[in-house]
Amino acid sequence: MEYSVKSGNPEKQRIGCVVVPVFASRKLSASTKTIDRASDGYISNLVRRGEMEGDLGNILLLHNVKNTLCDRVLLIGCGKEKDLNTHTFDKINHVMVDTLNACGATEIASYLTEIPIKHKDLNWKIRQSIASIDAALYNFNQLKLEKHEPRRPLRKFIFSVSGRGQLMQGELAVRQGMAISDGIHLAKNLGNLPANICTPTYLAKFARKLDKQHPHIKTTILEEKDMEKLNMGALLSVTRGSQEPGKLITLSYTGSNNNQQPIVLVGKGVTFDSGGISLKPGAGMDEMKYDMCGAASVFGVIDACAELQLPVNVIGIVPTVENMPDGSASKPGDIVTSMSGQTIEILNTDAEGRLILCDALSYAEKFDPDVIIDIATLTGACIVALGEHPAGLLSNHNPLANDLLSAGKKSGDRCWQLPLWEDYQQQLDSNFADMANIGGKGAGTITAACFLSRFTKKHHWAHLDIAGVAWKSGKEKGATGRPVGLLAQYILDRIEEREQS
Ligand code: BES
Ligand code: MN
Ligand code: ZN
Repeated sequence: MEYSVKSGNPEKQRIGCVVVPVFASRKLSASTKTIDRASDGYISNLVRRGEMEGDLGNILLLHNVKNTLCDRVLLIGCGKEKDLNTHTFDKINHVMVDTLNACGATEIASYLTEIPIKHKDLNWKIRQSIASIDAALYNFNQLKLEKHEPRRPLRKFIFSVSGRGQLMQGELAVRQGMAISDGIHLAKNLGNLPANICTPTYLAKFARKLDKQHPHIKTTILEEKDMEKLNMGALLSVTRGSQEPGKLITLSYTGSNNNQQPIVLVGKGVTFDSGGISLKPGAGMDEMKYDMCGAASVFGVIDACAELQLPVNVIGIVPTVENMPDGSASKPGDIVTSMSGQTIEILNTDAEGRLILCDALSYAEKFDPDVIIDIATLTGACIVALGEHPAGLLSNHNPLANDLLSAGKKSGDRCWQLPLWEDYQQQLDSNFADMANIGGKGAGTITAACFLSRFTKKHHWAHLDIAGVAWKSGKEKGATGRPVGLLAQYILDRIEEREQS
């Protein structure tokens, strides 16, 4: 979809459809009033007759409104002004897209930017609208013979702003919104691909493709034999039971001068998690194709940074393997030596994410990171603790945690902090190795993070457990592209902070 910004009166837009808000009860917005005046009170008449209350989700589509240059005017009910918030704004955008799709409108000028939302500016409204619209239009039909695409799809979407003075701000928001939305789109598509297509080799090829597309992205791939040389015994132990070769992908985006320390993002890339010898139960096992959504989000964020040519350095590290049971698979009780030298007793082969991440985190050190953030569908326990709304956040550095919490609030792609107290560490004690890979019954998300913390002591580090947020189950099964929005916002905030100091 092509997005742009324009200032000007609604009745003067020569376009297929103009979208304007109406609030409850029967309160016209400024743009709606302008059309009303031009059309000699046509809209206020309809409203008075009870055709449109302005309740959230109400719609009224008008044709050939007098003294307007557009074919149609779509009134969208936004509910009471005092009830407007980020959720209702999202709902309004969805209703708009569904209606426009159903009536075959292809070119739109929208005045929904007028809707007042507390503490949110034009930049936010435009970016959020792009995210909502693209989410509403998303479908994954590349593997279907029958694509069922709309006959007349939305093509052109213009955000109206209230004056020329807002054009620059609006255009920046469109650029940012589209780049982030593209990153989310990329992450969703990778997530939704089945594990027989999206293998570690596929991800490596995909990374090479990003390298070709963007002059500031460089990709390197370590093969199993390279990882052996680096003594990545933990990562390699997970890939042993699979026919698919494991890889360690590094994508580096250099948008700033070379001596600026990079933000390092490490994404879990288990393309299928059967559990290994500690096999998972059959029901719902298909969803373990989503166990590479951390990796997908890293690709998505780096793609967005490159598209916006952001002045930062970001390195994405993706350890990618398939966790399968065969004759050479790891067995419960096996002890392996990680790249750091610390030994690990594998008491459960299904706790594989931390085994690949720990070596990737050790590898990250060579990039002299400013901060390290890992993103992983790491524990079912995180879904028990927090459900599907926020990602779990654990960190060894509170300022970093606060930055992520704040970026989550701003973007709507939220996270929530759990404690990383020393007290939990003893749950990882092993009689036979430096640590076990599971921490027993309680606090599964925290003990998983405690495990990772033993490999990131030298750096400011945060861990995002996205098990609950990376995809939806049930009828709307599909990847969400989270937390691309959160991480992109974090990076934008970091740039802004640096420019101010
Ligand atoms: N990929 C899973 C975590 C997961 C499970 C995410 C279900 C989303 C939905 C991870 O590798 C795993 O299997 N974790 C185990 C850890 C346990 C063995 C300590 C889990 O959560 O059961
Ligand atoms: Mn597992
Ligand atoms: Zn897993």
